[in-house]
Amino acid sequence: MRTVLFHELGGPEVLSVEDVPLPDPGPGEVRVRVEALGLNRADAQFRAGTYVLRPTLPGSRLGYEAAGVVDAVGEGVTAFAPGQPVMSAANFGIGAHGVHGEQVVLPVESVVARPEGTDAVTSAAAWLAYSTAYGGMLETGGMRPGDHVLITGASSGSGTAAIQTAVRMGAVPIATTRSAAKRRRLIELGAAHVVTTDEEDLVTAVRRLTGGRGVELVLDAVGGPGFAALGDAVAADGVLVAYGRLDPRPIELSMNWPLSVRTYAHGIAARDAAYRRRAAAFVGAGLRDGSLVPVVAETFEGLDRIVDAHRLLESNAFTGKIVVRI
Ligand SMILES: NC(=O)c1ccc[n+]([C@@H]2O[C@H](COP(=O)([O-])OP(=O)(O)OC[C@H]3O[C@@H](n4cnc5c(N)ncnc54)[C@H](OP(=O)(O)O)[C@@H]3O)[C@@H](O)[C@H]2O)c1
Repeated sequence: MRTVLFHELGGPEVLSVEDVPLPDPGPGEVRVRVEALGLNRADAQFRAGTYVLRPTLPGSRLGYEAAGVVDAVGEGVTAFAPGQPVMSAANFGIGAHGVHGEQVVLPVESVVARPEGTDAVTSAAAWLAYSTAYGGMLETGGMRPGDHVLITGASSGSGTAAIQTAVRMGAVPIATTRSAAKRRRLIELGAAHVVTTDEEDLVTAVRRLTGGRGVELVLDAVGGPGFAALGDAVAADGVLVAYGRLDPRPIELSMNWPLSVRTYAHGIAARDAAYRRRAAAFVGAGLRDGSLVPVVAETFEGLDRIVDAHRLLESNAFTGKIVVRI
């Protein structure tokens, strides 16, 4: 079977598609025939050596997000059967289990059933983005209807999912982007307001949009020195949830104390089956009722386009998720 590998750290060009032996699923494992894969910024950071986890080289796999069909199950697996459409739950070691290949073996806790009628491309763009928005905003952030929610890096896969999740819950999403070019698209996707951070002061804009109060919740994909301003934009009793490190520089903390800062990571889904059930119910219901519509920025055809897909990711000239159909 063909799989995406890299043997040294670097840019998109270090990726290659190579034949590797087809593994059999062991006890508690599921083998999936991948139909489409989704890109995440973590894939690019892992490949470049700037992610929180480091690859074992040479011969590292990569990839958190994919959708496909179960083609074999290991001993003791009863939750899934061959032929069943599934998505990867992104709670596994990315180097060992990376899902960007024709077939992958995953622990059963890392497999989620695909909602009925959802195609492979849509599903590859769905699970990690919406479960992160659900987990970060509702479970960790305690988002309530009517809350103003500041969503940073809002044109990202997770950010576009967060805008839709806020709208679905009756909250008011305020989206940030560095570039005015993405403003209109973010409004089309449901943002009530867009703050262009290269052009306006974030805290001033947020105070103006919230009658001086600040936001009840921030969902932050960026981190870095700009994290301090996010804390300054939080209302009294509000919450700042960090889930990403698009800016790898050290985080600076606001002195708007007392300030509640929490973190969210998808690894929780591996440890907590009840959490996984709640996230699957929320995401599945949203996909079925049409309130959550995965935003696919571009679909590349064939695993050999993986380098082009990574180049688009690094250009930042897209809104939503980049998908490769196999
Ligand atoms: N904790 C979790 O469970 C979890 C789950 C999913 C993702 N993540 C993390 O969340 C982050 C977002 O991932 P993603 O795949 O959704 O992102 P993505 O789709 O790659 O995000 C792309 C957008 O983010 C903005 N951006 C990129 N670099 C930036 C920077 N240095 N500063 C500010 N904005 C920047 C750009 O938008 P503009 O040009 O419009 O500003 C860019 O178009 C990553 O750090 C990822 O590892 C964490």
